[in-house]
Amino acid sequence: MNIVRWGLLSTANINRRLIPAIRASERGELVAVASRRQAQADAYAAEWDIPLAFGSYEALLASGEVDALYISLPNHLHAEWTVRALEHGLHVLCEKPFAVTLPEVDRMLDAARDNGRVLAEAFMYRHHPQTKIAAAWIRDGHLGEISVMRGVFNFSMSNRANIRLVPEWGGGSLWDVGVYPLSMAQYLMGGPPVWVHGDQWIGPSGVDESFTGTLHFAGGAMAQISSAFRTPWYTHFDVLGTKGRLVMTRPFTGLDSDQRRLTFVDERDQTQELPVPDVELYSGEVEDMHDAILFGHPNLVGLNETRDHVRTVLALYESAQRGERVYID
Ligand SMILES: NC(=O)c1ccc[n+]([C@@H]2O[C@H](COP(=O)([O-])OP(=O)(O)OC[C@H]3O[C@@H](n4cnc5c(N)ncnc54)[C@H](OP(=O)(O)O)[C@@H]3O)[C@@H](O)[C@H]2O)c1
Repeated sequence: MNIVRWGLLSTANINRRLIPAIRASERGELVAVASRRQAQADAYAAEWDIPLAFGSYEALLASGEVDALYISLPNHLHAEWTVRALEHGLHVLCEKPFAVTLPEVDRMLDAARDNGRVLAEAFMYRHHPQTKIAAAWIRDGHLGEISVMRGVFNFSMSNRANIRLVPEWGGGSLWDVGVYPLSMAQYLMGGPPVWVHGDQWIGPSGVDESFTGTLHFAGGAMAQISSAFRTPWYTHFDVLGTKGRLVMTRPFTGLDSDQRRLTFVDERDQTQELPVPDVELYSGEVEDMHDAILFGHPNLVGLNETRDHVRTVLALYESAQRGERVYID
C-alpha cells in the first residue's frame, strides 16, 4: 500500500477542512463518505466529488473500500464508532475531544492495540509550524523557566440547535474549544498538572457556555485557560517565563492565517517576531496519519497524551461542580 484510501464518517461541517488536506497529499485519496441517510450521503458526495456514498456508518465500515476513517461525529459518538472502525481493521483519525469519559478512552486505546491499527486524535494545531517553533524556542531556554501560561479559545454561538449545546452529547465550551489551550499547556509542560480548579457559567441548555480553569503543574508553573460560546471569535496563547514571554497570536485557527504571529519579548522588553511559515493548518495531521499507516511512525500526538487531555477536562468539570480543587491521580 502506498496510498491511503480515506472515508469520512458523517457529513459534518468540519469535513470541509479535512477534504482539501487529504486531496493535497500524494499519499491520500478521498474515496467515500457515510451519512445516516442515503440521500444526504449522495448529495454530499455529489457536492464534494467523492466517489462512494454510504447510507449508514456501518455500511462504510464493512465496505472494504477504505483504509482509514476520519470520525467527525458529535463527541458522545466518537468512542463507539472509533472502536467499531478499529474492529473492522480500519485506521482512525478521531476528532477532539477524543471521548467524554475515561472508560471510553481506554476502550478506544485497547481496540487500537488489539487490532494493530493506527489511532490518533485530530489536534491539527499541534502539527503547525507555529506550535513547533514555539515549543523549540521554549526548549532552547529563551524564556527561562515557564511561570504562567494564558490561553483562550472563544467564539459566539449563534445556532441554538448546535450539537455543542446538548449536555448528553458532550456539549460545552471546555469540551469543544477549551481543550485547545488545555492541551497546549500540557504539551509545553510535558504532561498533565498536579491539580486543577475550574469555574463555569452554565447556559440555558445545561452546558458550560463559558469556562475558566487553572492548571497547577509540579514545580509551580500555572496555566490559566478559558473558553466560551459568548464572545466574538478569539484564540490566543501566551507563555510567560522567567526571562521573557512568547505571544502566540491566532494559534488554534486556520481562519485569517496571515494574521498568525509568534512574538518573543525578552527581559529588556525587546520584541522579536519569529517567522512562521503559512502552512495549511489541517495538512499536518493527515500527513502524520500517512506516516503512521504507511511507515509505522509514531503519531505526533500520542495516545497517552490524548488520554491526559480527557483526564484533565474531567477534573476541571468536577472542580467547577464541587467548587474546590481536584487532584489529577
Ligand atoms: N479540529 C477542528 O478544527 C474541529 C472543528 C470543528 C469541529 N470539530 C469536531 O468535529 C466534530 C463535529 O463537529 P461539527 O461542528 O463539524 O459537527 P456537525 O456539523 O454538527 O456534524 C456532526 C455530524 O454528525 C452526524 N451525526 C450523527 N448523529 C448525530 C446526531 N444525533 N445529531 C447530529 N448529528 C449527528 C451528522 O452526520 P450525518 O447526518 O451525515 O450522519 C452530522 O453532520 C466534533 O467532535 C467537534 O469537536 C473539530
